[in-house]
Amino acid sequence: MCGIVAYVGPRDAQPILLDALSRLEYRGYDSAGLAILNGKGIEVRKKSGRIQELAKICLAEPVKGRLGISHTRWATHGAATDKNAHPHLDASGRLALVHNGVIENYLELKTKLMETGHIFLSETDTEILAHLVGEAFSSSREKGDARLVEAVRSAVQQIQGTLGIAVIHADMPGLIVGARRGSPLVIGVGEGENFLASDTQALAPYTNRVVILQDKEIVSLRADRFDVASPLGIRENVKVEEIEDGVAASDKGVHQHFMLKEIFEQPSAIQNAFRGRLDADGATAKLGGLNMSPQELRQIDRICVLGCGTALHAGMVGKYLIETLAKIPVETQHSSEFRYGDSPVSGRTLFFAVSQSGETADTLGALREARRRGFTVLGICNNVASTIARESDGGVYMHAGPEIGVAATKSFTSQLVIFTLIGLLLGRLRFLSAAHGRELLQAMENLPAQITQCLAYSDAIREIAQRYAHASSMLFLGRLANFPIALEGALKVKEITYIHAEGYPSAELKHGVIALIDKETPTVLLATQDGVYDKNLGNLQEIKARSGPIIAVAHDDDKKICTLADTVLKVPRTHELLQPILNIVPLQLLAYHIGVALGRDVDKPRNLAKSVTVE
Ligand code: F6R
Repeated sequence: MCGIVAYVGPRDAQPILLDALSRLEYRGYDSAGLAILNGKGIEVRKKSGRIQELAKICLAEPVKGRLGISHTRWATHGAATDKNAHPHLDASGRLALVHNGVIENYLELKTKLMETGHIFLSETDTEILAHLVGEAFSSSREKGDARLVEAVRSAVQQIQGTLGIAVIHADMPGLIVGARRGSPLVIGVGEGENFLASDTQALAPYTNRVVILQDKEIVSLRADRFDVASPLGIRENVKVEEIEDGVAASDKGVHQHFMLKEIFEQPSAIQNAFRGRLDADGATAKLGGLNMSPQELRQIDRICVLGCGTALHAGMVGKYLIETLAKIPVETQHSSEFRYGDSPVSGRTLFFAVSQSGETADTLGALREARRRGFTVLGICNNVASTIARESDGGVYMHAGPEIGVAATKSFTSQLVIFTLIGLLLGRLRFLSAAHGRELLQAMENLPAQITQCLAYSDAIREIAQRYAHASSMLFLGRLANFPIALEGALKVKEITYIHAEGYPSAELKHGVIALIDKETPTVLLATQDGVYDKNLGNLQEIKARSGPIIAVAHDDDKKICTLADTVLKVPRTHELLQPILNIVPLQLLAYHIGVALGRDVDKPRNLAKSVTVE
């Protein structure tokens, strides 16, 4: 949520900032801006709309200089206007600042500053921080880089809330100061040049050598060196890490959108999720990163899964998998509810924090709360360098590769594979037979090819999507592990198409939802042949009796359903526990093709951002 990039080095800053910023656009995309030291002072360009709009004004009137900061915004305080776009200046106009996060006590601080004559040009909370740093800088007695570093430290101390910031001052040429509390920041280490960014994605073409700032650290960055200070003093022996991935992320390949590319990457993404983790001899899973012995894992008597949005839906399928395979009771909680609630948790509960980005503020807060209470929390993350991955006691990486489309797709199916592995491991440490374990492993190995079969229906689903694109509302129904798939299918439709959609357990239909059924409201029914197939068909008849159009997700050899549903989205048959992994694929494609048919910006839907680093 909001992306920051800063550069200092021998090259022209503007093209680097614009390029790196475009790689962060998925974090927020309602306005953007940059500030560059031009030899005399600070020159700012900012514009509402996408980064292309900023690029246009920058190309028309380029800013020359070798040090700059930039920002792509997801609005929290103040509308997405030119004025509210970052960077913001202090009262002297010689200091510029970009910010990711939320300043909770901004009104109180603003009132105080206004009483002493400060004038604000925007409605943002960020501008207050620029003025605070500026005040501290002008009254500072420090010399050298410490003057700006200490000004940032003193201003940050007055702030309640979260921040990742980059600051420059015209009187300190060659210096960028960054600070983080809650919102991520990484240093990109180059040859005679350095970068600061919200995530490593921005830096892909420039360097793969990074330093991940830890919470509450401040960095002073020059072209040839950087110093990292924690509240306890200078961090000695800063470790520079080498990262993979990245460059490929900005390439859509043959696909029109990242979302479609990522849907089509699912066969390899899920293979990466289980590669090296299947233990054929033991008929179990090998998950080395849990950092827990078999004895410790056997003592767990409850599990709590924390997550938001799609990650929570994965946790809900995980509940079904773990309860079936290992007979351990599992509860799922919205991260945002858990962190502020009073929910009682029994002593031997194991927590999982699920997050593709590994930076979701609510999930990070919930993880910290669970750890504060003394529980072990394991992370299920895609982003290896993320805060959740680093703050967990252990975990399982998804290895799905970068997910750029704002709607989560391949990360979801990877999460489902990981929950299957966890269920299998915990089951085999208890009573699950080797025969059952082996069946599941074999079925899992066939999944990539079966997802490829689901993807082959993409063109057919495009035609189906044209038929339903003008619906104003859609329902999604499923039972047991397919209930969260119904929720996830509805979420994809809401996000990508802006059509109202709701997911329910199929049997809830008659408890109120049925009032919504009419001939204009399509119902997507998850009806693959499992233990509740006949029950689902009963619900199908209830919808038909009220003239509701039915789109069924069904096995490709199910002839009966073809006579009952208006449209069938076909999926191959797999082990019943793995069926949700296949069932979601046609629903992702349906949402995608409806979105395209309606002319939506599917990779960057309105009001959303990929990485939600505010509460
Ligand atoms: C839905 C979507 C969101 C995320 C949620 C959690 O398509 O992308 O609902 O799933 O914001 O994000 P992570 O997994 O990064 O914690």
